[in-house]
Amino acid sequence: MILQRWGFLPMMLLLVVAAITGATANPDVKDGCQERCGDVIVPYPFGIGEQRCAMNSNFFLRCTSTDDGHHELWFGFVPARHISVEEGTVIIDFVPAFDCYDKSGQQVRLYNLSMDLIDPYTISESRNMFTAVGCDTIAMGTNKEATSGVGCLSLCTVNATMSKENSCSGSGCCQTSIPKGLKSLNITVQSLRNHTTVSEFNPCGFAFLQEKVSFNLSDWPLSRTPTDFDRSNVVIEWVAQTETCEEARANKSSYACGINTNCYYSDNGQGYRCACNEGFEGNPYLEKGCQDIDECKDAGKRYPCQGKCHNTIGDYECKCPLGMRGDGKRGCRGFGIITIIISVVVGVVGVLLLLIGGWWLYKIMEKRKSIKLKQKFFRQNGGLLLQQQLSSSDQGYFQNQSI
Ligand SMILES: *[C@@H]1O[C@H](CO)[C@@H](O)[C@H](O)[C@H]1NC(C)=O
Ligand SMILES: *[C@@H]1O[C@H](CO)[C@@H](O)[C@H](O)[C@H]1NC(C)=O
Ligand SMILES: *[C@@H]1O[C@H](CO)[C@@H](O)[C@H](O)[C@H]1NC(C)=O
Ligand SMILES: *[C@@H]1O[C@H](CO)[C@@H](O)[C@H](O)[C@H]1NC(C)=O
Ligand SMILES: *[C@@H]1O[C@H](CO)[C@@H](O)[C@H](O)[C@H]1NC(C)=O
Ligand SMILES: *[C@@H]1O[C@H](CO)[C@@H](O)[C@H](O)[C@H]1NC(C)=O
Repeated sequence: MILQRWGFLPMMLLLVVAAITGATANPDVKDGCQERCGDVIVPYPFGIGEQRCAMNSNFFLRCTSTDDGHHELWFGFVPARHISVEEGTVIIDFVPAFDCYDKSGQQVRLYNLSMDLIDPYTISESRNMFTAVGCDTIAMGTNKEATSGVGCLSLCTVNATMSKENSCSGSGCCQTSIPKGLKSLNITVQSLRNHTTVSEFNPCGFAFLQEKVSFNLSDWPLSRTPTDFDRSNVVIEWVAQTETCEEARANKSSYACGINTNCYYSDNGQGYRCACNEGFEGNPYLEKGCQDIDECKDAGKRYPCQGKCHNTIGDYECKCPLGMRGDGKRGCRGFGIITIIISVVVGVVGVLLLLIGGWWLYKIMEKRKSIKLKQKFFRQNGGLLLQQQLSSSDQGYFQNQSI
């Protein structure tokens, strides 16, 4: 009994050890580096904790924690919410700019806002929209040199219930896209009439950058006033380095892409990024690079195979079952070995049956022939007469004459 109890203790220990090693072996960070700050995963080239965990100081982020155990990841002076290596993005929380007025038209609050990014970061032009909400609102955004900018105007006279579909058409809300490759943005909000005609239902105007997919107009009622918790998500794009792939490859010590990767250009034209070669997966920025995908493990879903799957480096083979033709990844044609075996067996049995049948028929014919022959001999040798005589002696004289 005691022995039995001790028996499963080492097994428990083994399980615990397995669980611990499983948790530390993370493929997305450098060895010994923290993989997350609170809920946010921090993949390489980003790093937290120690400088060596990041590719360089541009990717080194601060992770702070409060006494109540809440962690915050900082992208400069603003919180970072999500980092993507595949897309080359960081999503940050940004504060909206606003201006507010009291009923007499006196300005009570104003908040202009500026964002200034260093290389290798740019504000994503494809994933953000410049948005303003208000009934007496002029919103402007320029880069810090005031050489490039956007703006929009939103006016209304009634307490408009803004349409349920996220449409900002200039009545209560206006929206516009931003220039490509923008690295800084000063956002300001102004009004035409100090909100005097709309102060009943719209005391404030807001202007902000906002990730398109997370924008929800119902978060911005006209009655809204600023709080300390106002945030909008902004998508920031990053590249590994601002050089061209050729320039970067020329210097092995600073080239950012690992093994089994390729170098590609981002849409915003600011430099290069790394991606795994086809058939490989992993973090392309780590030195060990990307690892071969075992397509056969996932065969059927992402990597179709109707036949026998065989993993190769960077690819996989799929052979159709014996006797079938075609590319197993797309589908096999013809008959499989089982079908062939069945047809052969059926064929052989058929032939055997035919042979047996033929032999049997032959035997019957033979028999008939010999009977006829016997009858012939019987007649030739006067057997008929004999029979007649035999019959007549039994049943009358002429009865069996016809034979
Ligand atoms: C943008 O804001 C920054 C910092 O507040 C300031 O230094 C710069 O002059 C501003 N640029 C423009 C065009 O307003
Ligand atoms: C905000 O921007 C407006 C318009 O450019 C300007 O008039 C105002 O002085 C700015 N206010 C602050 C506090 O920067
Ligand atoms: C708006 O308010 C400012 C001061 O807050 C004042 O100087 C200006 O005259 C007002 N404009 C209108 C149209 O009421
Ligand atoms: C404006 O409309 C909203 C909802 O449509 C409502 O909650 C709010 O009370 C209205 N404000 C005024 C001043 O009528
Ligand atoms: C927007 O938010 C409202 C309430 O906050 C929610 O009911 C609605 O489903 C959201 N719409 C979208 C498109 O997310
Ligand atoms: C290559 O990159 C390293 C690290 O950034 C740098 O110190 C070195 O000067 C570069 N070499 C050349 C030839 O550009």
